[in-house]
Amino acid sequence: MEYVLLEKDGNVSTITINNPKALNALSTAVLKDLEEAVNTVAADDDTYAVIITGAGPKSFVAGADIAEMKDKNQEEAAEYGAYGNKIFRQIETMDKPVIAAINGFALGGGNELAMSCDIRLAADNAVFGQPEVGLGITPGFGGTQRLARIVPVGIAKEIIYGGRNIKADKALQIGLVNAVYPQEELMNAAMKLAKGIAKNAPKAVAASKRAINKGLEGTMDEGIAIEVDEFSNCFNTEDQTYGMEYFLDKNKEKPAKQ
Ligand code: HXC
Repeated sequence: MEYVLLEKDGNVSTITINNPKALNALSTAVLKDLEEAVNTVAADDDTYAVIITGAGPKSFVAGADIAEMKDKNQEEAAEYGAYGNKIFRQIETMDKPVIAAINGFALGGGNELAMSCDIRLAADNAVFGQPEVGLGITPGFGGTQRLARIVPVGIAKEIIYGGRNIKADKALQIGLVNAVYPQEELMNAAMKLAKGIAKNAPKAVAASKRAINKGLEGTMDEGIAIEVDEFSNCFNTEDQTYGMEYFLDKNKEKPAKQ
């Protein structure tokens, strides 16, 4: 892959977007590599948590590639939007927790990529925004939908209609990110969080992700029914059998995860 680095540290895989000439903007070539990396980690049974970040000190992802987008006609724009959305939805629905480590600009498609992750951590130099209306378009990789679900709808509308960027402290205040770290500490913090999650039963973490995400799409009763399914299915796993046995009898050997 030319534009994405894929590394593994124990049970944590890190995907780094690396398109330095354009502050990691998402051209079709970058999206193709991102898709390959996402499919690789999704299929890797030894990856229990994933981090997505951008290369370099300045930018997570500065958006879709404006130079590539500029001359697209309506049909081509729809194809481009659908392709990015397909990959972001894979990230959102994959059976592994995904942490965005936002190390600078997260604009347009960059903010949309971060929002398709389960958890967002930011460096103190991070800048967030949906500047699309200034370019004469709407957000196109899910921004109108995810921002309005993550932060209060009036705040989402202010950000999207205004096209004004916000800094990391404001992103923390509105709940767009979980925490802000000094730039040099961001990746350690993301790895610590990922490893902490990866210590737990991966099937139970995946089931929790499905229950939360699918539950949010429906009514409370539907959500509870989804949770009952996911919860009870866990009783078919060795993680449940041994996890509970180990809790009750610490003399037993700590079980390997399923
Ligand atoms: C293509 C980009 C780019 C982008 C930066 N570059 N962002 N190229 N697409 N999104 C390129 C610049 O052209 C420049 O190339 C180099 O990266 C460095 O950028 P500068 O602008 O010189 O850096 P700086 O002055 O520090 O400004 C940083 C910035 C600014 C504030 C992030 O680059 C910027 O506003 N970028 C665009 C952000 C944006 O509008 N994103 C949303 C895109 S629309 P050269 O060759 O001159 O060195 C979108 C829609 C998604 O994301 C949905 C699609 C379906």
